[in-house]
Amino acid sequence: MYRTHTCGELGLGNKGEKVTLSGWVQRSRDLGGMTFTDLRDRYGITQLVFNMETNGSLCETARGLGREYVIQVSGIVAERSNKNPRLSTGEIEIIVEELKVLNASEIPPFTIEENTDGGDELRMKYRYLDLRRSNVRANIILRHKMAQATRSFLDGHGFIEVETPVLIKSTPEGARDFVVPSRLHNGDFYALPQSPQTFKQLLMVAGFDKYFQIVKCFRDEDLRADRQPEFTQIDCEMSFVEQDDILEVFEGLTKHLFKEVKGIDFEEKFPRISYSEAMNYYGSDKPDIRFGMRFTELSAIVRGKGFVVFDSAEYVGAICAEGCASYTRKQLDELTDYVKRPQIGAKGLVYARVESDGSVKSSVDKFYSPDELNEIAKEVNASPGDLILILAGDHKKTLTALGELRLEMGRRLGYRDHNSYAPLWVIDFPLLEWDEETQRYYAMHHPFTSPKSEDIEYMGSDPGRVRANAYDLVINGTEIGGGSIRIHDSSVQSLMFKTLGFTPEEAQYQFGFLLNAFRYGAPPHGGIAFGFDRLAAIFGGSDSIRDFIAFPKNNQARDTMIETPAKIKQEQLDELGIEIKKVE
Ligand code: AMO
Repeated sequence: MYRTHTCGELGLGNKGEKVTLSGWVQRSRDLGGMTFTDLRDRYGITQLVFNMETNGSLCETARGLGREYVIQVSGIVAERSNKNPRLSTGEIEIIVEELKVLNASEIPPFTIEENTDGGDELRMKYRYLDLRRSNVRANIILRHKMAQATRSFLDGHGFIEVETPVLIKSTPEGARDFVVPSRLHNGDFYALPQSPQTFKQLLMVAGFDKYFQIVKCFRDEDLRADRQPEFTQIDCEMSFVEQDDILEVFEGLTKHLFKEVKGIDFEEKFPRISYSEAMNYYGSDKPDIRFGMRFTELSAIVRGKGFVVFDSAEYVGAICAEGCASYTRKQLDELTDYVKRPQIGAKGLVYARVESDGSVKSSVDKFYSPDELNEIAKEVNASPGDLILILAGDHKKTLTALGELRLEMGRRLGYRDHNSYAPLWVIDFPLLEWDEETQRYYAMHHPFTSPKSEDIEYMGSDPGRVRANAYDLVINGTEIGGGSIRIHDSSVQSLMFKTLGFTPEEAQYQFGFLLNAFRYGAPPHGGIAFGFDRLAAIFGGSDSIRDFIAFPKNNQARDTMIETPAKIKQEQLDELGIEIKKVE
């Protein structure tokens, strides 16, 4: 028997017992007569004691143990004189009588402790060692708990877990596909699913009524902290439902997870705001509502006073940063540089401070009288001590830039605390998005999303104005999930494809199977998918989803541990009928 207990289990209740433990040597401290060794496994750390006086040769062996050796020890549980309240086993130690080295270890490339000296790259290369660190392991365990709680909730609500294929067909919409060449059909390719979207809809046509799957999805897109090329969705679909039915079930799932995993109760219903409100008040379709600082449009009251920047702007908007009137010149310059970054793209930043006597001092004093500045302060609800930050320019770009500035101010003011959670639904998304470059409309969500019935009449004349039955769940400024009520009528689906610029032949080639299925009694249906990695990261209080994936890719989409992507053998290429073109 390798062990009688784990390393996280023993306490004063076991005092005097003879036990056997197995695990890894976390570290040893040699104090002359005594050697103390921390033994680690998944469950915790237990202190081992080797005594030179009572057992000299054993103590000698213990001194030779290196970090990460795998050992087995037997001994007696004793009360510690020097207790460690930070360890669950901190009240006891094991007086070791027998020691066996099960496996030696080379010196690990970084210290396997919570605060490691290993850089990101090194830790990813040796991810199996990184995963031994308690904080990394805790993230993976958190994810496991969330998956279990999800399954039990959805099972309890009548959802059936169905697996859908991974080798599917490439589609032109959405992100770039990862493709897999076929050996049996040279020249043909499978694609890895960006999501099981069409399959879950077919399962509704098949009468499954409520489907879910915790499923890997693949997208060849530019990576960010919250994007991986392969990621996991909690994917769901339901029949005979309207938007409210779906929001209710998945708000229920979210609350269940918060309660089960974090012990947090959300009594209130999640707020719902429309896409246009989100854009107008927060400059983002995924607003962080842990704090207010909503935008106030000032276009009408600032125009016509001779300040050309405001006069020529399509939109002028402001936020009010409470208590920031004391910002120094340097801080304001920093903010100006921040909004002028190419990613944000504002031309400049105008500010106004409300002094303690209520007077307003601004960087545009020249153009505005004290009364006019007071009117601005009143409009944005600013009080003495507040700082008003104003951006002007093109409508859409300025809203987005002001949104970034709002987030930055929220960060500076400590409003974006990882331990507070502000979920909301964003609803009424536009159905289509115009792309200047290709001069065509794209589906904002995907081509199977239904238009609002009252807007269908504009599909031909003014497609940009059509709203969709689509919704996103947002938590703390992160898009956690998105879904929609689908088109279940083949004629509306054909109209949608036409609006997206597909010829009937192209639509048939790409999605014929779905259009055909819709001819055989498709129920009204809709669904949603949560980004599981993102949800885990939010629960774990981190901005990076990588920390919650056991074996993630780096930001160049590489796995440096298994060294992939990698070349394949010439024979494999020959079998697949593939020739590699040299890219200069
Ligand atoms: P969508 O494309 O919005 O919808 O994806 C759903 C959720 O998946 C997460 N997500 C990602 N997470 C990590 N890395 C990525 N590269 C990545 N891309 C997306 C996000 C997102 O909200 N089939 C539809 C859902 C539906 O309509 O039912 C879909 O995939 O959290």
